[in-house]
Formats: sequence, C-alpha cells, structure tokens
Amino acid sequence: MTQEEIQKNKEAFTALCRKHIRREGLEALLDYLEGTDFYTAPSSTAYHLNEDGGLCLHSMNVFRTAMRIYDGIAREAMADGTGPFEGEIPEESIAISALFHDLCKVKLYRKAERWKKDEAGRWVSYPGYEVSDEFPLGHGEKSCLIVSWYMKLRRDELLAIRWHMGMFDLAPQGMSQSYSFRNALDQCPLASIIHAADFIASNLLEKTTQYK
Ligand SMILES: [Fe+2]
Ligand SMILES: [Fe+2]
Repeated sequence: MTQEEIQKNKEAFTALCRKHIRREGLEALLDYLEGTDFYTAPSSTAYHLNEDGGLCLHSMNVFRTAMRIYDGIAREAMADGTGPFEGEIPEESIAISALFHDLCKVKLYRKAERWKKDEAGRWVSYPGYEVSDEFPLGHGEKSCLIVSWYMKLRRDELLAIRWHMGMFDLAPQGMSQSYSFRNALDQCPLASIIHAADFIASNLLEKTTQYK
C-alpha cells in the first residue's frame, strides 16, 4: 500500500467512526489510535493484508461486510421472527464491534527480515513482519479491554468482539471456551455477524502479498 493509500484509508476510517458512532469516548479512542501504529500496521504477518496499512483497511472491510450481512440476511429474519432473534441491532453496535474488533493488533507486529527458499532451494531473506506482543493478553479479549479503556461497551458488543475469531481461537485443552463461544452465539446475533464478517473479509476480500 502506498503512503497516499494509507492516508486515504486513515481518513476513511475516522470518517466511518464519526458517522456511525456517537458514543462518549470515541474521540479519546481515536486520539489513542493516532499515537499507535494502527493506521500503518499490517493485518497479519503472513496472511490477509500482510502489508503496511492492512489493519486499518481490514477493519473497514469487516465493518462493510458486517453491514451487508445484517442488511441482507439477519435484519429480515429478526424483523419477521423467522429466526431465533427478534428486534434490531443498532448500526452503532455493528460499527463499534467491527471497526475495533482487532485493536489487539495495535503495537503487535514489527518489521523483520524473514527467510524463505527460492526456486533453486537457496535461503533468501525478504522484508516481512514478526509478532512482538508487548501486552500479551490474548486476542478478542485484548481488543475488548483496549476499547473499554475509552468507551463503555454494551454486553453484545463485548461478546461480539471477544468471540470474533470463533472456533479459530479456542484453547486446545478444556471445554469452557467452547461452551462460552456457543453460549455467546445463542445469546447475541451480533457475535455471529462479526465472526462471519471477519471470516469473509479475510478470506474473500483481502490478498496476501508474496514478498520477493
Ligand atoms: Fe482478529
Ligand atoms: Fe479481523
């Protein structure tokens, strides 16, 4: 991503936040992000949007995908009572949960020389990223905490952010996380929407860069 694209995405991100989120604490949270690498960080080290600016773009992709899932699928079933949930999900909750679901990745990646084999089987280095977690609290749970430093989250927003990785982030031993995840889906339609949006945006919208 070029510097111009990163700057454009930063402006689009803050505009989306200010358009859809009215909750107290938003400006303080944006001030916090301004002092971090949120707008320049990659979205992953080796998968979707593993490039400068990837994290901000991914967050917007998840929001736009979540809105389409809600508008195209969930809203109607919730309104006519054919699904397990009733009522409406505030657009503000979708915006908060989607735009801030991966704040755990702030100050998480750093640039590093990585190694791979070329066509001839020789080891060659390339400029990539590595994880350097200065606050290792987990994934969704860490995002919940960081947002909560600045903004009071609703119960369903906490559940949606906490469980956005779904089955991909369950502890290999013990069943308590699996039960909690299943319970969250049973209680909170927003949790299914954010998890699905993260999955779809990561896998269908976002390229992986092969560094030479
Ligand atoms: Fe995530
Ligand atoms: Fe994500």
